Amino acid sequence: MNLIFFGAPNAGKGTYAQGIKNDFMITQVSSGDMLREEVKTSSVLGKKIKELIDAGKFVDDQTMIELFKQRLTEKDCEKGFILDGFPRTLPQAQALDEMLESLNKKIDLVLSFEVPIETLIDRVTGRRTCPKCNRIFHVRNVPPKVEGKCDDCGIDLIKRVDDNEETLRKRVKEFQEKTAPLIEYYDRKKLLLKVDGDRLPEIVLKELKEMLKERFG
Ligand code: AP5
Ligand code: MG
Repeated sequence: MNLIFFGAPNAGKGTYAQGIKNDFMITQVSSGDMLREEVKTSSVLGKKIKELIDAGKFVDDQTMIELFKQRLTEKDCEKGFILDGFPRTLPQAQALDEMLESLNKKIDLVLSFEVPIETLIDRVTGRRTCPKCNRIFHVRNVPPKVEGKCDDCGIDLIKRVDDNEETLRKRVKEFQEKTAPLIEYYDRKKLLLKVDGDRLPEIVLKELKEMLKERFG
């Protein structure tokens, strides 16, 4: 089962990918996590990526396509994957189609998480992530068992630099201009399924699991 999780910043892509990957034994491939790993290395590319992410702008298509070309050939993707944050532009979607064709794979479903902008803004300041395992929490909506600590690793959670209202608004603008046209791209391919993401996370997750079990067993 190969899925694309699609949606605006803070729509819940990462949360739901983490919530279903173990049940279906598939790999979460998060573009944002991959880029943040590159930033940690302080390479020339990492520094360039950091500037763009902190400004709420997209990384260029060529870099993203190269990253995914490599990543999708790795062993853990063989069992199936969730693409969380890629593709995000039309050229990326077209390049993905070519990559998958050469690997003899296909996308089974594109889930688009629909969330109004007020909710995206409401979520942004409360997100906390684990710097080790990338698990996502929210101080109010998805709190960790011990305040400020990852449930799995026990280490201090961090706040992403791009998690402030000003940068979020820029990221939403990028999404509306460059990513939203992909809805039509995947709808034409009869792969798109819209999900109401403005509900409690446990309710969305339960519905998702039932729907995927019904479709893919
Ligand atoms: P990335 O890390 O992918 O950021 P994003 O797409 O902006 O999405 P987020 O991770 O912010 O949100 P999410 O949908 O995963 O929500 P989450 O589950 O965390 O990318 C970062 C940057 O990298 C981009 O801005 C860009 O610069 C660059 N980049 C990445 N991919 C790229 C590409 N392909 N091309 C070019 N550039 C690229 O949930 C959000 C919060 O809400 C959490 O706190 C969570 O606990 C909470 N929450 C989740 N669901 C619910 C719910 N139902 N109710 C209440 N709270 C909830
Ligand atoms: Mg994410």
